[in-house]
Amino acid sequence: MAARYSHLNSIPSGRNVRIIQDRRVLSDAYVPETLPGRDEQILMFEEHLEPLLFNEPPSHMAFTGMAGTGKTAVAKHVLRHKSEELRGAPVRFIYINCSQANTSYRVMYQLNRAFGILVPPSGYPYDVLEDNFRKAFLEADVRMFLVLDEVDLLVRRDGGRLLYSLTRMNYDLDLRRNSVTVLGISNTLNFLDRLDRRVLSSYNPDRIFFQPYSADELYNILLQRARLGLRPGSWEDAALRRIAAKVAREGGDARRAIDLLRMAATLAERDRSGKLTEDHVEQAEIRVDESEVQVAIRTLPFHHLLVLKAAVDLLLAGDPRPGTGKIYERYERYARRFLVSPLTMRRVSAILRELESQGIIEIEMSYGGARGNTKVVRGTALPPLRLKEILNEVTRV
Ligand SMILES: Nc1ncnc2c1ncn2[C@@H]1O[C@H](COP(=O)(O)OP(=O)(O)OP(=O)(O)O)[C@@H](O)[C@H]1O
Ligand SMILES: [Mg+2]
Repeated sequence: MAARYSHLNSIPSGRNVRIIQDRRVLSDAYVPETLPGRDEQILMFEEHLEPLLFNEPPSHMAFTGMAGTGKTAVAKHVLRHKSEELRGAPVRFIYINCSQANTSYRVMYQLNRAFGILVPPSGYPYDVLEDNFRKAFLEADVRMFLVLDEVDLLVRRDGGRLLYSLTRMNYDLDLRRNSVTVLGISNTLNFLDRLDRRVLSSYNPDRIFFQPYSADELYNILLQRARLGLRPGSWEDAALRRIAAKVAREGGDARRAIDLLRMAATLAERDRSGKLTEDHVEQAEIRVDESEVQVAIRTLPFHHLLVLKAAVDLLLAGDPRPGTGKIYERYERYARRFLVSPLTMRRVSAILRELESQGIIEIEMSYGGARGNTKVVRGTALPPLRLKEILNEVTRV
């Protein structure tokens, strides 16, 4: 029997091709014990919660900052510690993500559940839900600290109605015993400016801002993940530095940095070299960029696909900078071929801008040509041939 497996001995001894030891550590849901680069925000948040230790109500709060700057991670991290510290105290911490609960009804439904009331997930009178919640809250006789993560998605739907009625509750409570505090988290930086005046004056939060991570901060975040999730000695320092530098240039999003690390580690494992190098990072960058473009294309409306196809085909036919006029002519032909009535030139011009804002193409203005001022496509996120393949896969247009 042993002889059948003897080829295993041909793997050089002492070389381990495994890189990833704990994949969970590299997933988005994982919140590590410490958060490099966020000491200041953690301290400020903890100080804000201090009144709870003396059975007093904390003020409302808002976290703002771009995607991947650690807002959710800091909220969860601090809540985890505070709920241990305050175990047995009359305080209830509740976390609700409004990307799943993006209507007043769904948030109220979650609040009912948090207080042990089971109601149908839809189709129940909203006022009853709100009544249930108020009664249960008073009965529980606690201070509630409610985190509404991605709260801008809720406000967009309900215009701030729930934020208003929750923060308003304090006016009718005996604040010596009960209070409602809301922490709203948003990556829309001007989220507070867009709130209705009445809502803002009732909510009026203390703000904590999360700036994009610098290259050094990203490096420390990556190093922590590598130490926790990868085999010791299985990565080159330069690989982590490269990810950190690239992501810092692109806006300092820790999620993106960790995604790249996971992808690079997976590629390194696949080629069985036993070491994660800068080369793997380079390959991972291409794949991550490509998969983002693919996702963007896959969700485009039909006319957008036809406009993109027109531009790509012109590029492939050798026109280095196709303009709106030529793109429109070709788009019109494609539209008729697919038996849809073509949109106006103006609309197609707007679609080109939308394709640019999705990062699929780059456009620039060309001034004073034969047609006056016009937009031209000057580049694409991926080589035109690759875009054409993706268009074919996605749409068969
Ligand atoms: N300082 C940090 N240390 C370690 N990991 C971090 C840090 N900041 C963020 N992360 C990790 O990066 C990812 C993104 O962070 P997080 O979800 O907190 O971002 P966010 O600011 O809430 O972004 P969004 O606005 O998109 O919701 C998560 O996996 C998180 O664990
Ligand atoms: Mg978040």
